[in-house]
Amino acid sequence: MKDVYTLPDLEDRSRLDEGAGLPARLAVLGDPVAHSLSPQLHQPALDAAGQAMRYVRIHVEPGRLAEAFELLKRLDFVGVNVTVPHKFEALAVCDESEESAGILGAVNTVLFDDQRSLGFNTDGPGFVRAIREEFLVDVKDLRIMVVGAGGGAGQAIAGQCALEHCERLLLVNRTPDKLTALAERLAPCFESERLEGPGDRLQTLPLDSPHLASESEHLDLIVNTTSVGLKRTDPSPLPSACLQPHHLVYDTIYNPAETRLLREARRNGARVANGRTLLLHQGALAFELWFPGFDPLRIMRRALAGATR
Ligand code: ATR
Repeated sequence: MKDVYTLPDLEDRSRLDEGAGLPARLAVLGDPVAHSLSPQLHQPALDAAGQAMRYVRIHVEPGRLAEAFELLKRLDFVGVNVTVPHKFEALAVCDESEESAGILGAVNTVLFDDQRSLGFNTDGPGFVRAIREEFLVDVKDLRIMVVGAGGGAGQAIAGQCALEHCERLLLVNRTPDKLTALAERLAPCFESERLEGPGDRLQTLPLDSPHLASESEHLDLIVNTTSVGLKRTDPSPLPSACLQPHHLVYDTIYNPAETRLLREARRNGARVANGRTLLLHQGALAFELWFPGFDPLRIMRRALAGATR
C-alpha cells in the first residue's frame, strides 16, 4: 500500500490495490498531494457508512487531469476530490458541472456517474458553514474582504460570498489584474437596491494599496485565501493596522494552526479562526454528494481532531 499513488498505478487494479484489504474507489488528486488530510477525513466516514472501499492520494501533474479521470472511470471509482493546482482544470475537464461551480470558477469534487464526470464545488458552501460555526453569523449579513481573491481558493470563496449576496465584498490581490475578470463575473450578483449602489458593494483593491487600512474599518470579516502563512516563517499578508477589534478574521490555512495573521489579529482584539472548519465542511458536503443520505459530519469532526500530517 502506498501513501501516494501516481498515474501508472492506475493502469491496472491489481497494482493499485496491492497489499490492501479494500479496493481504492475514492481519491484526492493534487500536485503536491502528500500533505492532504482528506484520506484521514473520509476513510472513517466510509467505514462508518459500511462502504467497503479505500480513499487514497494520487499525484497528478497539471495538464493530466482528463487522462486521470479516464483511468479512474475505468477502475470504477465513485469520485474524487481535486486540490491545488487542479481546481480550474477540473471545471474545464468535467463533462458537466453544477451552475454555481461556474461562478465559483472551480471544481473541487467530482462524481463519476455512468462514465460521465460531474463537477461540484463544496468549498463555497463549506465556507458558509464554517463561518456560521466559528462566529455564529451568516455570510449574507457581512461586509467581507477576501485577501488573495485572484487565486483558486480566493475566487471560490469570493464567488460564494457573491452568491449569498453579502452586504459588501472587497476583493484584494497582490496582482490586481487578476481581479478584473472575477469582478465582472460577480457584478451581476450585486445588482440590487439593497444598501448602496452596485459599484459600492463590490470593489477591488491591490494588496499594497495605501487605502487598505481605512477601507477595512468598514468591514466585518477578513478572509485570507493566499498561500502566505503556510510556512511558519511567513509574514502576515496584511498590515497589522488592517486588523481591528471589531473584525472576524478567518484564515483558510489550518497548518500551522495559528498563522502570523491570526496571531496579530488576536493580539489586536479580533475574533479569529483557522481553516479546519472549512476542511471539515467541504469534506462532509463532498461525502454527501457521493453517498446521499449519510451525514458524516460527526465522524469527520472526530477524525480531524486526531489527524496529523
Ligand atoms: P492558486 O493555485 O490557488 O492560484 P497560488 O498561485 O499560490 O494558488 O495563489 C494563491 C493566492 O496567494 C494568489 O492570490 C496569490 O497572489 P497573486 O495572484 O498576486 O499571485 C497569493 N499570493 C501568493 N504568494 C503571495 C505573497 N507572497 N504575497 C501576497 N499574495 C500572495
